[in-house]
Amino acid sequence: MLVLGIESSCDDSGVALYHSERGLIGHALYSQTELHAQYGGVVPELASRDHVRKLLPLLKQLLTDTSTTLAEVDAIAYTAGPGLAGALLVGSSLGKSLAFALNKPSIAVHHMEGHLLAPMLSEHKPEFPFIALLVSGGHTQLIQVTKLGQYELLGDTLDDAVGEAFDKTAKMMGLPYPGGPALSKLAETGTPGRFKFPHPMTDRPGLDFSFSGLKTFALNTYLKYQHEANITEDIALAFQTAVVETLIKKCRRALQQTGMQRLVVAGGVGANLALRVGLKDLLAQLNGEVFFPESIFCTDNGAMIAYAGCQHLLLGENDQNNAIKVYPRWELQQLNAARP
Ligand code: KG4
Ligand code: ZN
Repeated sequence: MLVLGIESSCDDSGVALYHSERGLIGHALYSQTELHAQYGGVVPELASRDHVRKLLPLLKQLLTDTSTTLAEVDAIAYTAGPGLAGALLVGSSLGKSLAFALNKPSIAVHHMEGHLLAPMLSEHKPEFPFIALLVSGGHTQLIQVTKLGQYELLGDTLDDAVGEAFDKTAKMMGLPYPGGPALSKLAETGTPGRFKFPHPMTDRPGLDFSFSGLKTFALNTYLKYQHEANITEDIALAFQTAVVETLIKKCRRALQQTGMQRLVVAGGVGANLALRVGLKDLLAQLNGEVFFPESIFCTDNGAMIAYAGCQHLLLGENDQNNAIKVYPRWELQQLNAARP
């Protein structure tokens, strides 16, 4: 089965072709980062308009590059949520219209399920069950994954998502958008141990997170020492270290609590090198294994949507009508909400 995947939930336009037996056939991505950089964050209306401009040319490029015709596509998977309503509507309209025109099934895909399954695009992939750490610009969640579609939320953030905290801390120190990668690059030249930032919510039981206090701690430290040498580098390192150590503590807890030995890390912050090194160490200590998506599939992309859609289509699931609906707020545990 050849599935076309379409992603447009935020500021990346992505399309991909995934074949149930042959794997990923090809993918194409257009990032709007430059468009939003001048505003210091994603401007929803501009994001929607740019998806309108870019998705069709991207699709044409993908079909040309992979020598595929639309007639060969068996089904279309598109991100239906969560995300920006206008941006989601662009990909969903394209996906459903194509499906209608081609008389092929379509399937609404949950963006975070796409992230969670992204490591399955690698050659060495995890088996079910596992614990997933979803760390993106909008999510910080620990999820117990029993099998495809069976997701139990173990922990969530009470305020800012971890990527959001990275971005806001970076912005406060004048770093370019998106701040996460810029801040982690800066941290490489920081002085270890100059500042010690708190590890929020680790002194009490449970698997929830909170990162807004850490962001404020970084701001106060910056305001106090901003005229000293190397201050941004040292704050970047202290902030990143506190975030990474907090995530590691919670992952250890989740694995021990559930008796699982496999951890899957997904979402944009999964590209963070310090987090990758720390989690590899943790799983080595626990005699388990940690799985990361390839770096290119950590952030938003069409391949993860094509893959997730394909797995559900193989189970006989698909959209039951032609209505174009998006779900800007959609809990992963309620996948069936979009399967009317
Ligand atoms: O998954 P994603 O592409 O989009 C969402 O669905 O949110 O994640 C984007 C987030 C941004 O907050 C970005 O700053 C963060 O991931 N990010 C990073 C790194 N690369 C991306 N944060 C820390 N270190 C990185 N290397
Ligand atoms: Zn994402």
